[in-house]
Order: sequence, then structure tokens, then C-alpha cells
Amino acid sequence: MSVRTIGVVMNGVTGRMGYRQHLVRSILAINEQGGVTLSDGERVTLRPVLVGRNADKLARLAAAHGIPDHTTDLDAALADDGNLIYFDAQVTSARVKAVLKAVDAGKHVYAEKPTAESVQEAVTLAQAATAKGVKNGVVQDKLFLPGLLKLKRLVDGGFFGRILSVRGEFGYWVFEGDWQEAQRPSWNYRAEDGGGIVLDMFPHWHYVMENLFGRVTSVYAHATTHIPERVDERGERYAATADDAAYGIFELEGGVVAQINSSWTVRVNRDELVEFQVDGTHGSAVAGLRDCRAQHRAATPKPVWNPDLPVTARFRDGWQDVPDNAEFDNGFKIQWELFVRHVLEDAPFPYDFASGARGVQLAELGLRSSAEGRRIEVPAL
Ligand SMILES: NC(=O)c1ccc[n+]([C@@H]2O[C@H](COP(=O)([O-])OP(=O)(O)OC[C@H]3O[C@@H](n4cnc5c(N)ncnc54)[C@H](O)[C@@H]3O)[C@@H](O)[C@H]2O)c1
Repeated sequence: MSVRTIGVVMNGVTGRMGYRQHLVRSILAINEQGGVTLSDGERVTLRPVLVGRNADKLARLAAAHGIPDHTTDLDAALADDGNLIYFDAQVTSARVKAVLKAVDAGKHVYAEKPTAESVQEAVTLAQAATAKGVKNGVVQDKLFLPGLLKLKRLVDGGFFGRILSVRGEFGYWVFEGDWQEAQRPSWNYRAEDGGGIVLDMFPHWHYVMENLFGRVTSVYAHATTHIPERVDERGERYAATADDAAYGIFELEGGVVAQINSSWTVRVNRDELVEFQVDGTHGSAVAGLRDCRAQHRAATPKPVWNPDLPVTARFRDGWQDVPDNAEFDNGFKIQWELFVRHVLEDAPFPYDFASGARGVQLAELGLRSSAEGRRIEVPAL
């Protein structure tokens, strides 16, 4: 079978996500396995064209991986007809301008989430891509996590009966940067640079809820900045102007209530960095990044409240592991393969800019809910 190569312009590859998940774990890994296989058996390999602001950093990164193409000139990369796809993993605040340029140049566009900082801009992106007739997609990696795939299997198999509620707990302690270096980039803690946990995480929770449990119909959120000052990459103190924790309650179609805490100021006392507990009339499950445990109604213990006696029941022992029953590949890579097939042979790809815009909408309404101290309906976009 023949092998075809297409150019992929990658902007923001010196960053955490652009480098590790998208360049190394997706594009290079796809090439190592021989490319993406189309439905007629043809194989497509991807020629990354690294774009960024710092020529030296790009050159070093390219040399480390034997990548011939790198440039600080985005326009030149977009002018090359061999480059079919533009991918953006820059800081969020730089995304819209670059993606619009790529759309204008007729490239198919794939971007990290959130697609924009405001719903208006996110909708503009979706409309521009549709008007130009280019394929568009947004990263929704959590859907491909083994734990959530197993949870989805339980939903699809009718395990829960009627789903009543979802409880999500996400977060870990991000060091302030004074006595131990922070493990996340400082822009995430400055609102003026596109930071904030609501804008960061609500788009994730939106596609998780929409794909597993149903459309989100309302949001009530309390966002706050628990740590008002942090120390940046250069060791300088800065005002943390963005929210670093958000406590959200979401109503979903069909009456499901989802309550999700997101925090960079919480110490982990759970099995995974994110966990979702789903309770239904016929059963419950707790899913993390990799694992999923379930408890059927028939195996549900009957606790009785009596604080005068020590607890003897071992509640956690009453849950059963949901088996893998499959091999799980890296979620970012799977989504890249789907997007390439979407571009080249119109294979389905539901994770488009319109769904990205709905995620940004939930973040925007979440912040408004918090500012105004009230529950807000989520209108259809
Ligand atoms: N899908 C996920 O799970 C996930 C996780 C983390 C971050 N993200 C998203 O990925 C994007 C990048 O996040 P990251 O954590 O990799 O950030 P990062 O700071 O590590 O990388 C940012 C990249 O953008 C570039 N850049 C372009 N313009 C810039 C500017 N004006 N200021 C600073 N850097 C600029 C940097 O050079 C770098 O390559 C964000 O939009 C973020 O929301 C997604």
C-alpha cells in the first residue's frame, strides 16, 4: 500500500502540552508506528513543521528529534501548500489570532482547549472555519482516558439505571514557587494572560458531561483565588489575579446534577488526580484517569448512622474493578489519528470548534455565575 506524507504546522511546541503530548506522544509516535491508516489501507505520515517565537529553542528541539522543518515565520509555514493542517498549543491568549490566520490560509485547524478566552471569539472561530469550509477540531483528551472509557461503557450498557448525580473531584497542590518551584506555568495564575482554573477546566468538564451524561442546562459556580501571590519562573513575585479554585454545580438534561470541584490548592487524598463518582438507581461507579470501580444495587451495603460505635464496615471493599477488556492508547494520539482521517477522508469527528465554543461558554457563564452569586441557565449556542 502507498504511503503519503502531509505537512502539519505545529505552533506552541516548546510548551508542556505542545511538546510532550502532541509532538512526542502523538505526531512522532504516529510516524513511528508507520502513520495513520485510512479506510482503504493507505498510510499517511505526518511531517511536523515547528513554529514558535524563539528560533534557538525550536532549533534545539528539532535537532533532538531529527525534524528538518522549523521556523519563527508562521505566515511562511501557512503559505506552503504541502502543509494541510495547522495545530495550535500556544498559550490560550495567543490562539485566536493564529487560528484565524490559518483558516484564512485555507488550512484545516486543530487546537488545544479552550479554543478562545471568550465565547464570542470561540464562536467567531467556529463560524470562520465553517465559512471557509475547513475541517476544525479541539482537543478533548479526557474522553479517551481509560477510566472514562470504562465509565462510558457502563453508561452505554445501562449499568446505572437512571443516573441521579455526578461528583467530580479534580486537583492537586500547585506549589507557590517560593520555597519549592511551581510545577505549572505562571501565566495560568494571571487573568490578564489567559489564566484561571474556570477557563482551564470547565471546557474539559463540559465535554465530559455532554458526552457521558447529557447537555448542560445550568451552572452555579463559586470561583476564588485562595493564594493571591505566587513566584514565577524567574523567581519574581507576582499577583495571582486568576481564580485557582472553582466549586461548580451543573444541571444536565434529564435532571442529572453534577457537582465538580476544581482546585490547584488542594492536597490529594484520593486514588487519582481526578475522580468522578456517578450514582444511579441501579448502581454507582467511581472513575479516575485509569481505573473504574463499580457497585451494583444488589451489592450495596446498608449503613446505619450510629456515632457511638466505631465503623467496622470497610466501605471501599464493596466495589468491583471494571476490567480493561481492551488496550488503551494515548488519548491525544487517538484524537490526532481521528482528526487526520476526518481531514483526508471525512471520517466523523464530533469534537469540532462548535463543541469547543460550548466549553468556553460554560467557563464564561461559570465566571459570571460566581461574580453575580447566582445560578445561570446555559442557552443553546
Ligand atoms: N488538554 C489538556 O489537558 C491541557 C492541559 C494543559 C494545558 N492545555 C492547554 O494548552 C495550551 C498550552 O498550555 P501549556 O500548559 O502547554 O503552556 P506552556 O506555557 O507550557 O506553553 C505555551 C506555549 O505557547 C507559546 N507562546 C506563544 N505566545 C506566547 C505568549 N504570548 N506568552 C507565553 N507563551 C507563548 C510558548 O512559547 C509555549 O510554546 C493552553 O491553551 C492550555 O489551556 C491543555
